[in-house]
Amino acid sequence: MTEPISRQGTPFPFEGPVPPDLLIDREDELRLLARRAADRVNVRLVAPRRYGKTSLLLAHARCLQRTGWRTAHVDLSRVTDLADAARRLAAAYAGLDAGWVRSHLAGLLSRLGITLSAGAASVSVAPRPRAPDHEAAETVIVQLLDLPLRLWRQDQTPTLVVLDEFQDLLVARKDLDGLLRSRIQYHGDAACYVYAGSEPSMIRELFEQRERPLFAQADPLTLGPLPPEETQGGLLERFRGEQLDPGEALAELVAFAHGHPQRTMLLAYLLSDRLITGAHPTPALADEVIDDAITRTEQAHQALWQQLSRPERVLLAGVADGRAPTSRALAAEHQLSRGTLDAAARRLVNQAHLARDGRAAWLTDPLLAEWLRRR
Ligand SMILES: Nc1ncnc2c1ncn2[C@@H]1O[C@H](COP(=O)(O)OP(=O)(O)O)[C@@H](O)[C@H]1O
Ligand SMILES: [Mg+2]
Repeated sequence: MTEPISRQGTPFPFEGPVPPDLLIDREDELRLLARRAADRVNVRLVAPRRYGKTSLLLAHARCLQRTGWRTAHVDLSRVTDLADAARRLAAAYAGLDAGWVRSHLAGLLSRLGITLSAGAASVSVAPRPRAPDHEAAETVIVQLLDLPLRLWRQDQTPTLVVLDEFQDLLVARKDLDGLLRSRIQYHGDAACYVYAGSEPSMIRELFEQRERPLFAQADPLTLGPLPPEETQGGLLERFRGEQLDPGEALAELVAFAHGHPQRTMLLAYLLSDRLITGAHPTPALADEVIDDAITRTEQAHQALWQQLSRPERVLLAGVADGRAPTSRALAAEHQLSRGTLDAAARRLVNQAHLARDGRAAWLTDPLLAEWLRRR
């Protein structure tokens, strides 16, 4: 079963995963994922939030479905406990074999507040039971994890399992990567796993530390910014499809967004909004669209700002203003040591708010950068 895509009624969807046919670029990544799946090499996909991980993986799943694979997309974002993890797995795996899940797990699932609807391969979740039943949850998790192998033995059809926002699984219980490994290590040709995550440092820790059960169990794949030319070309076509002329404003906005996928789409959407009411597509209109986007997002920027330490604030604001992240002048101005600024930079990189390449550094989110420049 794949995650239902709620299609916004616009060629510029900016919330949630985009349908595969509205994906810009990412062909190389799709080809690589297809090859890895064929070779049963597991992949870990890391990129900042809203960079298109889920969108890419839904497109990947659709390609595999067309060649006969089964697919399950497990959304682990903000999982809180073991019962919650079991529910997320049940929601995704029920579609693999609803009949089997119903006949073998319905009792355990009902102890977790999950009912499988008759007929269709969907689950509904009752209000969380007051006393979480950890034993039932663990049994459900183990049985579900084994399902791809059971199915493979029946019909030699492989399963793609996407574990989306994988790092959140460990919030439910710290050793769940061990439990997972202990089941899937026997899957061989039966399944291929893709782990996706938004926290680079956590994913690295899970897969790169020798003592972790998933050490060296997945090939890394990072998702970079969207390439400007494909983005511009793809969007231009969509504007034309809507009988709109985005003029010079589009290029300005694409350049401003720096390849950030969701920010690009939000800006394109807001531009279309202005064009529909008859505005002229000048560079000045691009500035107005950026104002609109800042207005829409400033609460989120404010919330992030509130969580940051002083050195992190100094650093982000400095970088937004175009300064080197650990420059002597920036450190001196704020009476911080360069080491303190460097540690702050590393934390921000780990949380994917900041990107660094040698001496260069930039904010992942161009709207956050603009909001800071305007402070
Ligand atoms: N390849 C892409 N083409 C067009 N828009 C994209 C692409 N990737 C991401 N987006 C935009 O980013 C938003 C978030 O995508 P999503 O897949 O949910 O990101 P993630 O899973 O990394 O948080 C989408 O609503 C869409 O606006
Ligand atoms: Mg996602």
